[in-house]
Amino acid sequence: MAAIQHLLARLWADYRTLNPQARAIHDLLESRGERVVNDHIALRTYDDPRVDLNTLSAPFLDGGYVPKGQYAFPEKKLFARHFEHPDKECPKVFISELKVGEFPDSVQRTVKSLIDQAPADLPGRADFPVAGRTWTTAFPEYESLRAHSEYAAWMAAWGFRANHFTVLANALKTFKDLAELNSFLKEKGFKLNAAGGEIKGSPEVYLEQSSTLADQGEVRFLDGTHRVPACYYEFARRYPLPDGQLYEGFVEKSADKIFESTNKRS
Ligand code: NI
Repeated sequence: MAAIQHLLARLWADYRTLNPQARAIHDLLESRGERVVNDHIALRTYDDPRVDLNTLSAPFLDGGYVPKGQYAFPEKKLFARHFEHPDKECPKVFISELKVGEFPDSVQRTVKSLIDQAPADLPGRADFPVAGRTWTTAFPEYESLRAHSEYAAWMAAWGFRANHFTVLANALKTFKDLAELNSFLKEKGFKLNAAGGEIKGSPEVYLEQSSTLADQGEVRFLDGTHRVPACYYEFARRYPLPDGQLYEGFVEKSADKIFESTNKRS
């Protein structure tokens, strides 16, 4: 297996293990006779040069991925890029980074103390994107990060791994549109992210997306185990551009709301 296929398989295995919800939905779709095609995998990081977007994308570039679109989320203080592989069987990769310098000193100090614990050789490693959490942290630290950024807290709890996989709805044969897929999922008891409406985007922007709300996962903190939001499953339907090619990019306004799928619910 080529190195990149191996990395993608490991990301899927890790994500599937961590997220019973994604596993259940994937299996439900397959049991209807669907072949589940991944539109994209999303990863998160901090913009510290030791682990930033460029560093985290290196194993994907080594595996043949090419940088495509770039996206800004000023309100959430995020920057992102997406990468595509010449082999269309490989999902797109969407990597975002948190602009830590735009947060108060306390947040900057906490994030630095996490990254200081990461092994020095981590950035050069081919398995960096699936290394998981490479630090320990206390729950009050997680909570103090969360007060400023849900994203910062998610990273502190989960580290480097797939934040979500995305089912390409175009490839599903038994649902006529995203709304029908959403209804099916809700009937089966899954909760969808309703921030900005269940379906983000529209045919006019060539992309519609929806997502589940993240499962809760158990995380060991220095002071005990706590249940915190883990990962979610996303669904994307793409529309052809005027030239007839499917739009392969992302829509900032939609992605901005999708990020909230890992927000803590009270
Ligand atoms: Ni996504």
